[in-house]
Amino acid sequence: MKMGNVLVSLDVGTMKTSIVVAEAIESGLVIRSFASVESSGVIRGSVVDIEKARKPIADAISQASRCAKLRLKQAIVTLGSPLMNSISMHSIADAPQKNSVFSHSHILSILEDARKISMPEGIRIIDCEISSLTIDGKPISGEIGRETFSRVEADIMVFVAKEAVIENLKSAVEKSGLEVIGCIPSSIAAAEALVAKEDRCSGVALLDIGAGKSDMIIFENMCPRYHVCVPFGGENVTHDIMVGLDVTHREAERLKLKYGCAMEKMIPKDAKIDVPNIHGSGKRAIEHRYLAAIMEARLEEIFALLKKKLQEKGVSLFGTGLNSKIIVSGGTAMTPGIVELVERVFNLKAEVRLAASGSNVPDAMKTHDYAVAFGAICVFLERLMTIRRIDATRSKIATMLTKVKNRLLQKL
Ligand SMILES: Nc1ncnc2c1ncn2[C@@H]1O[C@H](COP(=O)(O)OP(=O)(O)OP(=O)(O)O)[C@@H](O)[C@H]1O
Ligand SMILES: [Mg+2]
Repeated sequence: MKMGNVLVSLDVGTMKTSIVVAEAIESGLVIRSFASVESSGVIRGSVVDIEKARKPIADAISQASRCAKLRLKQAIVTLGSPLMNSISMHSIADAPQKNSVFSHSHILSILEDARKISMPEGIRIIDCEISSLTIDGKPISGEIGRETFSRVEADIMVFVAKEAVIENLKSAVEKSGLEVIGCIPSSIAAAEALVAKEDRCSGVALLDIGAGKSDMIIFENMCPRYHVCVPFGGENVTHDIMVGLDVTHREAERLKLKYGCAMEKMIPKDAKIDVPNIHGSGKRAIEHRYLAAIMEARLEEIFALLKKKLQEKGVSLFGTGLNSKIIVSGGTAMTPGIVELVERVFNLKAEVRLAASGSNVPDAMKTHDYAVAFGAICVFLERLMTIRRIDATRSKIATMLTKVKNRLLQKL
């Protein structure tokens, strides 16, 4: 296998670090290896201790590298953190000449221009995504490359983050032996893996509830339009159980995974569970509903905060524009009752989707651990295809990969 065709992506999360290695071939992607290990040195999705974060990243890389029998060199990283923000930008461009056909190369130029906008000190652009596109005042209809235009207008979602957050992640990965060639927002990556094109077209929200952060991205007409993130997730639920039941952190996590529920009323009134005493030996019986009440309170608060942030951004989709559903993902989405709670807070249909499906995804990779890392590889492949559409010379995949790196990934 030529190293030029290998794509590597790393999802360094609060609880787990996952890596996926794939090979880009003419017909698509072939997964070569994947690994997931427990993270350290990461708080609420951001690397805060480079040395601590480095070890699990290096372990994940060496497992994946051994399994794929490849020496890995470069990786795309994903970032999902409340310290990452999205800002909207509007761009207007006139056609270079009369009867110009609107093509992918025009989209690429719009994105390249967006990447050049200057940022306040200490803030850097991670990635840019088109969130709406009109030519001569009309939304693009049909296939790109057929309609002539005289003016194109685009809304662009520019993902930005504090320099320190990007630098810490980059350092932790580079000290583990891989050069970072680009960064993709984790919600964009997760959506690529988990949300079908039809759903993105009709309007859908993807809610990723991780360990240290929860974020939500909303798609309309195929494009990402809004993104919000709050610094709370499953780890806060565990912490509340620890305090509320007076147990150790480890025991609180065990109770959550074994008996957890996001809706108090789903637990029978007289059900009891045994909880070990924190001091000394022995155990006591507590009402199972009490555990669920603690979890429900925290999760409901997280959802209410996300909803408030969306409302602050002027999102009016709840009950109107978004006619489909909320897809719930991330480790905390495995909590029983989560769908019912999401539906109650957002007043929309919800469903849980944890893992990417598809014939090229090995069964062992069909867990929530790999959704973001796999999605990032798919985003990369999609960008590769864009370059291919633009590139009349039909260069070899390795050459296109270089072009993607140069033109469709932000230099960090
Ligand atoms: N079966 C389960 N029921 C409830 N919660 C679960 C279950 N399995 C895992 N979790 C929780 O999911 C969280 C981990 O989710 P995930 O792997 O998506 O986090 P992460 O990607 O590392 O973190 P983040 O995206 O916030 O940086 C933990 O809080 C864990 O307790
Ligand atoms: Mg995550």
